[in-house]
Amino acid sequence: MGDKTGQTYIVDALKDVPKYIRWCTPSILPAQKRVTDVYSTDISVSAHFLGSYVDNTGIFKKAHERAARVYGADRTLFTVNGTTGSNFIVMRMISLENDAPQILVTRNIHHSILHAAEWLGVRFRFIKCSYDPQFESLIPPRPEDVLDTLNNYPESNAVIISSPTYNGFVARIKDITKAVKNFDKEIKVIVDEAWGSHLHFSDSLPESAMDAGADIAVQSTHKEGGSLQQTGMIHWKEKYVDSDLMLAAFREYVTTSPSYHLLASLDAVTAYMERNGKRTVEDMLKKSQHLKDLLGEKVIPPMRIMDDSLELDLVRDYISGYDRAKTVVALTKFRETGFEVASILAKKYRIVVEKGGLNTLLFLTTFQIKEEDVDKTAEAMVKIMKRLRKTDKKELIPNPFKHVENKPVIEPHVARRVAETIGRKVPLQDAIGKIAAEHVEVYPPGIPVILEGFRITQDNVRYLLKVKEMGGHISARDPELKTIYVL
Ligand SMILES: Cc1ncc(COP(=O)(O)O)c(C=O)c1O
Repeated sequence: MGDKTGQTYIVDALKDVPKYIRWCTPSILPAQKRVTDVYSTDISVSAHFLGSYVDNTGIFKKAHERAARVYGADRTLFTVNGTTGSNFIVMRMISLENDAPQILVTRNIHHSILHAAEWLGVRFRFIKCSYDPQFESLIPPRPEDVLDTLNNYPESNAVIISSPTYNGFVARIKDITKAVKNFDKEIKVIVDEAWGSHLHFSDSLPESAMDAGADIAVQSTHKEGGSLQQTGMIHWKEKYVDSDLMLAAFREYVTTSPSYHLLASLDAVTAYMERNGKRTVEDMLKKSQHLKDLLGEKVIPPMRIMDDSLELDLVRDYISGYDRAKTVVALTKFRETGFEVASILAKKYRIVVEKGGLNTLLFLTTFQIKEEDVDKTAEAMVKIMKRLRKTDKKELIPNPFKHVENKPVIEPHVARRVAETIGRKVPLQDAIGKIAAEHVEVYPPGIPVILEGFRITQDNVRYLLKVKEMGGHISARDPELKTIYVL
């Protein structure tokens, strides 16, 4: 059947969004000052009297300067391509500053950093990370893990840590920064704080990266900071960061036609949080706690919650704390997967969770979640859980990175180039021992298991097939995993 002429797919689909209870990004701050008519106020740099976003002048400069003050940075820039774009800008700055740039990255790093590094010819080496199979969660490295890797690669220019992690662990950024600076002051500590825009405003949450002394922090303000989807901020301290280079990288990357409405939302959120940040975050955390309490009382046993103090005790050495806006529950004692429960919640109850994994569900408490949403969600979970089937032997996903080396055989940017001429497609089993010419990502946890330029091991292949068999999602040229590209 053909579609109707003039049908609008996206416009129509968005009409239903307010009907859903959304435990997911974006975390829109309801009270932010709004542009009332988006269409009649859309404008470009031709209105030169407003200043230029790209050149950081006029109203944009003022908004950036205020944001730096409010978020505890020396300098701040707004971005309109999420933390993905911010990571490209920061990586460009590193490549402008160094002749043979090299970074150390945690194994749970977002793929935008790896892609930016490949594009720009920045070499990367991995810092080892542990993994919790029950909560499908990567555990941040300890300062000694970072130092171990630095001792192996002392010529590195930056250490990049992902914190908070997708599941809510906050790394020991203060201790890691101290350790790195003791090793070599010139090595930058960069925190991918996509999930941490709210941390700075709360005394009861772990410190933000800027407060903990990191050099650079990139945030997806849309995720937990209150602004519209796609918006983010790059914050930095000027002591070890060359602001001219950062601004040069920014000018090279950003669009010359940014949406002023997205930028306005970042400005509005900053203004609101300057006055009301503490109260707003505490209110949101109260609702999050209420959800945890209700799930704990009525639904959970034998389900587990990730920030239960007994669970956190197991990882105290690795974290400075937990982002309690997140509620991650494990379905270890049930046969059903998180994908299945998430799908029932959406279809039957119009409740959307941030993510369902094979064994987990993640509820993200956003600023727009209401008290009644918490009650309705707990009620829905009570009904769903009654129908789940218990088991004592659920199979969990093992550590996906145990067998991945921390260094490629061929630098990934070189592998990408030569793949065009000598790359070939082979059956997956035949790929063992060969060098990968593509990324293969597995969800959960959503991080590449096979990377261009790295050797494919028997364990990699076994792991991929296992996750696929268990119902996980594979992102690759051939998601069926029959074939893979190698050199
Ligand atoms: C750690 C981390 N960094 C970066 C990103 C990309 O952020 P954005 O969606 O704002 O581009 C994500 C997205 O989920 C993320 O989890």
